[in-house]
Amino acid sequence: MNIIVTQTPVEAGIAGAAVIADLIRTNRRAVLGLATGSSPLPVYEALEQLNLDFTQVQGFALDEYVGLPDGDLRSYATVIRTEVVERLGLRPERVHLPRSCSAEQDDGAAYETAIARAGGIDLQLLGIGSNGHIGFNEPGSSFDSRTRVLTLADQTRSDNARFFDSLEDVPHKAISQGLATIFEARHLLLIAHGIDKSAAISRALRGPITESFPASILQRHGSVTIVLDTAAATDLMLRPSGAQGGL
Ligand code: F6R
Repeated sequence: MNIIVTQTPVEAGIAGAAVIADLIRTNRRAVLGLATGSSPLPVYEALEQLNLDFTQVQGFALDEYVGLPDGDLRSYATVIRTEVVERLGLRPERVHLPRSCSAEQDDGAAYETAIARAGGIDLQLLGIGSNGHIGFNEPGSSFDSRTRVLTLADQTRSDNARFFDSLEDVPHKAISQGLATIFEARHLLLIAHGIDKSAAISRALRGPITESFPASILQRHGSVTIVLDTAAATDLMLRPSGAQGGL
């Protein structure tokens, strides 16, 4: 595992973008897993400055809320369109999102098939929730899980209320790549900034590997880059490698 600590979120974005740029320069048909939320935005902004050719790249979004109307500004479809497709110049038809018409019906299996047909994901960009979720795989998600509809944890709804007018407006359900789906990506690139992520980063990278803290699965993957600003790295710096145990 390669851990890069930078002074600021902008510098973290530049470091994350460099990892993606290396991939695109060696494989212009690379398949990217695309995170949304606030964490990856500095990466997308830094990538834009590099003027790479993304026209042959394929993208698979990590997750999406269930129940937001088409075109809703808070939907991850909108974020992917504005922050990834339009900013970087990916072709819209080469960018995919998991879909769910309702909490009961989803196209998770079709999404898994589409990822497999693309040859699998070369690099999965990830953020982390304060409760240790990656994608929207909340604590208790199976390490064997696949793309499916799930219920958002209260902590996640409250963390994400900042994107909505009120907590009541935050959807209760989402569709997300599973932990097994994420784990199959050939490289994982996780970015986190801010002191609010510090405890989660420390627990994910130094705590026990457990489905109670989904991001701990990263410790099992053979090819991982973690990019942090100094605030997000605070707890990790106090916890030497090899130290185990919950926080
Ligand atoms: C978003 C996603 C989530 C976020 C996480 C952190 O596609 O998969 O796991 O990465 O909730 O969100 P931010 O970055 O907004 O703090």
